[in-house]
Amino acid sequence: MDEKKEELKSILKKYGQEHLLNHYETLDEKHKKELLNQIETLNLELITSLYKNTKKEEKNENDKITPIEYMDKEKLYDDYKYFENIGKKAIKERKLAAVTMAGGQGTRLGHNGPKGTYDIGLDSHKSLFELLSDHLKEAEKKYEVVIPWFIMTSRENNKATIEFFEKNKYFGYQKEKNIFFFIQGELPMIDTEGKILIGEDGLIKQAADGHGGIYESLVKTGMTKKMREMGIEWVFIGGVDNCLAKMVDPVLMGIAIDKKVTVACKSAVKANPHEKVGVFCKRNGKPNVIEYSEITEEMAEETDEKGELLYGESHLLCNLFRVDAIERMGANPLPYHIAYKKATYLDQNGEVIVPTSPNAYKFEAFLFDAFGEVDDMAILRVKREEEFAPVKNADSVGVDCPKTARELYKKFHHIN
Ligand code: UD1
Repeated sequence: MDEKKEELKSILKKYGQEHLLNHYETLDEKHKKELLNQIETLNLELITSLYKNTKKEEKNENDKITPIEYMDKEKLYDDYKYFENIGKKAIKERKLAAVTMAGGQGTRLGHNGPKGTYDIGLDSHKSLFELLSDHLKEAEKKYEVVIPWFIMTSRENNKATIEFFEKNKYFGYQKEKNIFFFIQGELPMIDTEGKILIGEDGLIKQAADGHGGIYESLVKTGMTKKMREMGIEWVFIGGVDNCLAKMVDPVLMGIAIDKKVTVACKSAVKANPHEKVGVFCKRNGKPNVIEYSEITEEMAEETDEKGELLYGESHLLCNLFRVDAIERMGANPLPYHIAYKKATYLDQNGEVIVPTSPNAYKFEAFLFDAFGEVDDMAILRVKREEEFAPVKNADSVGVDCPKTARELYKKFHHIN
């Protein structure tokens, strides 16, 4: 092991990261091994370039943003049935799987545990995971099929998530055959000098690499291979925080198949021009999403000749992909967005430092940055009250919180 350590030390030195071995001797054997493994798998070139990027302005101000076409589910008229029948057929042929991105903790909600285990306060006390499973089971009954459910966890919450499913008997799913967990990727956090942080446990401080890492994770963990073996052709990918997510939607699927696109996404009209959601757009001619933090006030308020917002199609994080599109997206690196966060770390003297203000960079890829890989994308506008009830903030914030989600859920399901 010492030989390996020396070898890694010289590599680290080249990148100015040799401090990662400073506390090596204080670790037990298991952690020593783990640290060396972590170092061995570090992409130091990538980390160096990510640090360089923190010194640059985000460089998308020259991007050409234009509106994107969409279809309105309300206005499909005769085509509705046509698309629905195509989608139903494919669902019955077991071509659909669902993926739930559940790598996050419920920190913003003040919840101590994986976000999917959060109880939004219904009389049934069902967790977000159970509410999503209800939808899948209902569709299974309706179409007399099994819809395999893939759940993306993070290293941080994987164990707790699986324990929760165990405890709840997998909500009636056949666990070996139909529920699959996979862990999302991570990247080290770095300080303002570009040094990789060491966590309290003496290991490299890693953070989830954002939901954009999902394509690569699905491929790397063998999930896309599994899907292909099962005959799956289409994969719905959604967040864990939308308790009205309609993961099985024959109309969306029928449109994707009929229009021969490899990605089909759902949108809903923005509640108001300044709602904090991303909106679909074209960026330099390619499908993309412009985040609320990026859009100018002027663009957010711009309307067309009918008075509709030009950039008004909210990204619901409810997207359908053909398996080969996922594989393609997983093969190409996405840009990383930089967040400046508070991160507890071990300093040079082995002391735990708990910062009171942001001190470290975290890097996240966004799923929609891969949309540019495809030109053939369809967007279907759906009714917000039927498909979007996100749980993001604590009740005190007043929007996208348990209270608003609960009310929307009850209204949709006719619960008093
Ligand atoms: C996101 C979208 C926004 C969209 C909104 C809809 C981004 C940057 N923006 O905002 O365009 O309008 O949702 O609700 O995503 N997740 C992981 N691993 C990660 C990061 C996130 O699994 O590393 C999961 C979360 O558990 C959650 C989902 O992805 O289910 C959304 O992530 P979140 O960070 O909450 O995105 P928002 O800022 O709410």
